[in-house]
Amino acid sequence: MIKKNSPIPIYYQLEEHIKELIENGELKPGDSLPAERVYAEEYKISRMTVRQALTQLVNEGYLHRIQGKGTFVAERKIMQPLQGLTSFTEDMKARGFKPGSQLIRFEVIPATIQIADQLSIQEYAPVYEIKRIRMADDVPMALETNYISANLIKGLTENIVNQSIYSYIEGHLGLKIETASQIIESSIANQIEANSLSIKKGSPIMLIQRNTYLENGTPVEFVKSVYRADRYQFMIQMKR
Ligand code: GLP
Repeated sequence: MIKKNSPIPIYYQLEEHIKELIENGELKPGDSLPAERVYAEEYKISRMTVRQALTQLVNEGYLHRIQGKGTFVAERKIMQPLQGLTSFTEDMKARGFKPGSQLIRFEVIPATIQIADQLSIQEYAPVYEIKRIRMADDVPMALETNYISANLIKGLTENIVNQSIYSYIEGHLGLKIETASQIIESSIANQIEANSLSIKKGSPIMLIQRNTYLENGTPVEFVKSVYRADRYQFMIQMKR
């Protein structure tokens, strides 16, 4: 399988081979990988080369290392297409996961200048501040903070936000959510984010800011989210 006289570097050949085993399901999420030594002996290559291949796969999110335990196949990332304006609950259900939320904060606060500006309301007008850890099959995926005008969206309760905000707005209030703009940027988790998402401080995350509007153009929410970069990827369809 490893061709020593190939112009393709050996570490890269091994990397591609392991990737293939993951992609065709021979290696499954959670499986532990043989030790570096085992690969080195099997393919008669140096442990350094094996390490290089494995490190590359860790960096690409195919594998993860647990100190003192070994190297394991990572969970598959959730591929999120960015065409449709969907809620977390809808996204998880569409993928066969059980959506869940852990409510961290639910309060009505006076809008700061920044929030008022995002929601096109007066400074100090009442807004809900809702902070939730969003889960898929009980695994934390994202930490989201929503700001929603309390004069526009009346009657939100802890019970409602423990389920779906979008289904309350549309199903219960009969308003229509129509458009959103989203900014995605990469970052690393601080201690609080890491604790909420069950990842290590300094792990890669994606910061997502969404401004969502009703069909008449009224801003309905301003949301700051932190998504685990090891579990999420975004897909954009493009046409020339
Ligand atoms: C996604 C979006 C949020 C939105 C949320 C609504 O997670 N990033 O901006 O507030 O969905 O989800 P739900 O209806 O499940 O509360």
